[in-house]
Amino acid sequence: ALQRSHFRPAFDNKISSKHIAQSKAISNHTPAAMKRHPAISSLLITPRSILLLLATSIYIIVIGTQFKLAKIISTHHDRSSLGGAGRTLLSSSPLHHANSNNDPQPNNPVSKCNPSDTSEQQIASLAASIAQKWNLTAPTASSLLISQFHKPFDYDPQRDFFHFHHLYKSGGTSMSDLMDKTIGLPHLHGEYYEGILPGSYRSGDLNHAEALKDIQSRLEHGATLESLPYKGAYAHTGLRPVYGPEGTKTGQFYRKYFPNKRLRAVTMLRDPVDFRASNHAMIMCGLNHEVEVFNRDRVARGLERICTPEEGLNISALIDVKIEGILQKCQEEKQHPEKQIKARQSQCALQKSGVDTLEQCRSPSHLLNHVQYQKHYRSMFHGVMGRYHRKQPFGGTAYGRMGYGYTPVELTKGYSVQAVEEYTLKDLGGLDLTISGEGEGGRPEPDFLWFGITERMVESVVLFYYTFRVRPVKKVPKARVQDCRPTSWWTEQDKAIVKEREPADYALWRAANAIMDVRMEKLKMEVKAKLNAGETKESLFYVDWDQLEEIVITF
Ligand SMILES: *[C@@H]1O[C@H](CO)[C@@H](O)[C@H](O)[C@H]1NC(C)=O
Ligand SMILES: *[C@@H]1O[C@H](CO)[C@@H](O)[C@H](O)[C@H]1NC(C)=O
Repeated sequence: ALQRSHFRPAFDNKISSKHIAQSKAISNHTPAAMKRHPAISSLLITPRSILLLLATSIYIIVIGTQFKLAKIISTHHDRSSLGGAGRTLLSSSPLHHANSNNDPQPNNPVSKCNPSDTSEQQIASLAASIAQKWNLTAPTASSLLISQFHKPFDYDPQRDFFHFHHLYKSGGTSMSDLMDKTIGLPHLHGEYYEGILPGSYRSGDLNHAEALKDIQSRLEHGATLESLPYKGAYAHTGLRPVYGPEGTKTGQFYRKYFPNKRLRAVTMLRDPVDFRASNHAMIMCGLNHEVEVFNRDRVARGLERICTPEEGLNISALIDVKIEGILQKCQEEKQHPEKQIKARQSQCALQKSGVDTLEQCRSPSHLLNHVQYQKHYRSMFHGVMGRYHRKQPFGGTAYGRMGYGYTPVELTKGYSVQAVEEYTLKDLGGLDLTISGEGEGGRPEPDFLWFGITERMVESVVLFYYTFRVRPVKKVPKARVQDCRPTSWWTEQDKAIVKEREPADYALWRAANAIMDVRMEKLKMEVKAKLNAGETKESLFYVDWDQLEEIVITF
């Protein structure tokens, strides 16, 4: 039953109010805001993609020299046991790329790049201090962070296809928009971006039928599976595990239609309290709408907007308003039986019989004490990697509004905070390519190429450009940012309860932050070394100098 849980609708339970809260939340996502990518002409290779490939190749030569790749790989024994073609770090050796491309910038010789810009000692001490900063207690934490410093660059837009699993309320809508305007380019016409698989939705599940339609239309117009132009997809739909008994529909789909691609994963995560607060407000309870209406009314009366209980915001009173509205709708529906929503009618019946059907919505402490928390808000990061530690069965990143209803990972065999930290550093950090839904020795799952952290958006976006070697956009898209942050009505005590209750989600989040710290340090080192070697701000077009300056990183 646990394995199947992600195929159930998120709020499939007796209290039908959730369906209403949910449909309310859905109705806030206007259809116009969702993007479609229907069939387009089969334009395959653009001057831009050739440039990108060349730029990538130059970089690969530089980095290959800088980090003495052969030595690094030989120190990672777990990788060398892999044989899968085109799937391992070994088989994507930069040396191969270096031999197969001409250097278009002969006045920028590789030999100028100084491999000793940063010493091993400096790296080790940085890794140790980052591990300490994020309270990592796994004995392997520092050494895994050192490996993260040495992780070779291996994104290849021609070979790779990435899937962005956008967890609900993680800031992924803005990232989807950013993917359109970078990896998706060229922008053909209307809402179409050539690099993004049609059926991708910034705020919906992956539409496999729509994707298939575009693929078939391209095949009919002379394309081959090898020549399809897609570089990535985004949706609320999970990809992992691709292999094994819990293999996802999306995984099967990509394997069938992109047989020669290396599948890779991309995701976003968020502070565990913010994540729950946002879900509570917007998915479970539809509070954002009520607060907005409340504040609009205040502004109309010449008053200021308010966001906190101290200022006089009473969430419970807004829930009373919401219930009034629901009861009124039920009354109206009575006149039009054909328009009746069954879930709403039974909620009204329950409410009239004296049950408070939105009790969990009245305040964060109502939620924390409610069975709805146990049911939906335990171990919410299960969807990020598909499990928290190596001994846990894989599964559960697939369909639905985050696939709530996970077993608390703290109850699973083999769980410890250290095990979660270590597994996150390896899996989310893209360091262990042996992880497989088929078990030990199975075909490797897509590795994480990039991830973002919502509350570290600037760094996430800077690392995104850097990882994918794409030119920064002028204005970073910002979607669904609320006037009142949902955490504004969470007390310090409410937050502390989540922290205590969810050690695994915190362990995952702390490890993710440590990886991001390493990646930022690594970016600084690499950029510095390249500038010293004669590169310029113009030639390093994928470095977002402006946003780096905003967070006081200058060169
Ligand atoms: C690390 O632990 C200290 C002491 O318990 C705490 O004050 C700090 O907030 C923790 N930092 C993180 C990132 O968890
Ligand atoms: C908030 O609203 C509820 C009604 O849902 C009411 O019982 C409560 O007294 C209000 N709290 C404050 C502080 O006004």
